[in-house]
Amino acid sequence: MSKTVVISGASSGIGFSTAQFLHAKGYKVIGISRSYPKEEYSFHYYLCDITNEVEVVELSKKIGKDYESIDCLINCAGMGVSGAVEHSSYEEVKKIFSVNVFGHFLLTKNLIPLLRKNKNTKIINIGSVAGELIIPFQTFYSMTKAAISAFTEGLRIELEPFNIQVSTVLPGDIKTGFTKNREMPLVIEDSLYGERINNSLKRMAKDEENGMSPISVSKVIYKLINKKRMPISKTVGFTYKSFVFLNRVLPKRLVNFIIKKMYG
Ligand SMILES: NC(=O)c1ccc[n+]([C@@H]2O[C@H](COP(=O)([O-])OP(=O)(O)OC[C@H]3O[C@@H](n4cnc5c(N)ncnc54)[C@H](OP(=O)(O)O)[C@@H]3O)[C@@H](O)[C@H]2O)c1
Repeated sequence: MSKTVVISGASSGIGFSTAQFLHAKGYKVIGISRSYPKEEYSFHYYLCDITNEVEVVELSKKIGKDYESIDCLINCAGMGVSGAVEHSSYEEVKKIFSVNVFGHFLLTKNLIPLLRKNKNTKIINIGSVAGELIIPFQTFYSMTKAAISAFTEGLRIELEPFNIQVSTVLPGDIKTGFTKNREMPLVIEDSLYGERINNSLKRMAKDEENGMSPISVSKVIYKLINKKRMPISKTVGFTYKSFVFLNRVLPKRLVNFIIKKMYG
């Protein structure tokens, strides 16, 4: 029998690519986001703002009624905010944490009962290499992605007795609409920071625009879904795997110095 997969953030980018890929492989795919995909699609879709608890509870009840159980949840919805910490507003910071962290908590909490109904089910959280290598002028984004890795690690142990495995996928730069959708600061240069913010943002955008295709992430997710034992985290692409490895073995000060040279 085909497995049922729920994917948040399925209207574009990595989520859309993964929904299409898994649907083509014979999975029952349920896409979720605040708007429908702009491109043609043939999987099921529900509109939901994952930061709205009432909507998430209603959606989870609806999925339970329509599908009874699910086999995999992919938490992929996300957004970016860039700029200096000093120039960031409390509202902006609350917003990115609402989507990238609390939204994933809400959807996960409400769908765990449906995952528990099947044997060997999975939760795959989309983190980022930027949650391992903390990027200046994207500090809050990095913080949310580091939080997602922590979320995976705690949840993985909590859910082990129920045979629900949890893993984080760490993409590096991926060419999607993410760059265009990123909320930009009002201040990108000032007398204190000089051109540093502007240069850093330009570099980030350039890296993403020259990044890997979203399908490379979809293929990694597909492999994880089919794995008997999922690793705690899986980085996408050889170059980023090397960065994550070096980050774990090199002295923190050296890593911080290299990142300063690149983005600081
Ligand atoms: N692109 C990269 O370089 C890169 C690198 C590492 C990690 N990632 C991560 O990969 C994930 C997908 O990003 P992407 O690159 O595919 O960007 P994207 O094309 O901008 O996709 C973001 C998705 O999140 C959905 N979303 C945003 N806010 C939402 C909300 N409140 N409720 C429900 N859905 C919401 C959007 O749909 P609606 O607007 O329709 O709601 C959209 O489907 C994110 O978690 C991102 O942090 C991306």
